[in-house]
Amino acid sequence: MQWRNSPSRYGLVSIMAHWLVAVAVFGLFGLGYWMVGLDYYSGWYKRAPDLHKSVGLLLFALMLGRMLWRWLNPPPASLPNHGQLTRLGSKFGHAFLYFGLFVLMLSGYLISTAEGRGIAVFGWFEVPATITGIPNQEDLAGLVHEYLAWALVIFAGIHALAALKHHFIDRDRTLLRMFGR
Ligand code: HEM
Repeated sequence: MQWRNSPSRYGLVSIMAHWLVAVAVFGLFGLGYWMVGLDYYSGWYKRAPDLHKSVGLLLFALMLGRMLWRWLNPPPASLPNHGQLTRLGSKFGHAFLYFGLFVLMLSGYLISTAEGRGIAVFGWFEVPATITGIPNQEDLAGLVHEYLAWALVIFAGIHALAALKHHFIDRDRTLLRMFGR
């Protein structure tokens, strides 16, 4: 399989990035949902948010790389059996997934750095605080982060269902080509 996208196929880099991001998004959502209910005396009370923030920041770097790769390597065209509405829906749907993910990660960063403290990524390096002066920053960013996380994960679920519909009902190559087939 080729590394780069072609006019009719996704290449290995786009495919690996897509599935890595998909696992990270659902994993971070589950971790985030679980960790906000943790008791102060739990051994995970500090470890879980540290893990959530570290993976979130690595995901941000991965998404920047993915966007750059996409710009250098445009994705394949829609399949010929996709109608006008399907094409438009997938275009806006994918744009929402990309944009929503960036806003979600940015709001997470603004929560954690609101007090001026940087974020340590697995103790390897620290991402410094930059924007700290927004009134009620932590609460405001927290609200955006929570509601957007729900919206994005529900939307990603609909997106996955649409892929299954293409595979099992329309019987086209939409899902298969995200596996390089
Ligand atoms: C298990 C769940 C998922 C399945 C089955 C799935 C399936 C697919 C498939 C088949 C495509 C290719 C669509 C096409 O060729 O027109 C695609 C593209 C895409 N998916 Fe997913 N996906 C899943 C999860 C996610 C998640 C969690 C995200 C991000 C939040 C995501 C974001 C995207 C984006 C942005 C594209 C467009 C890629 C591009 O052309 O730039 N997907 N997905």
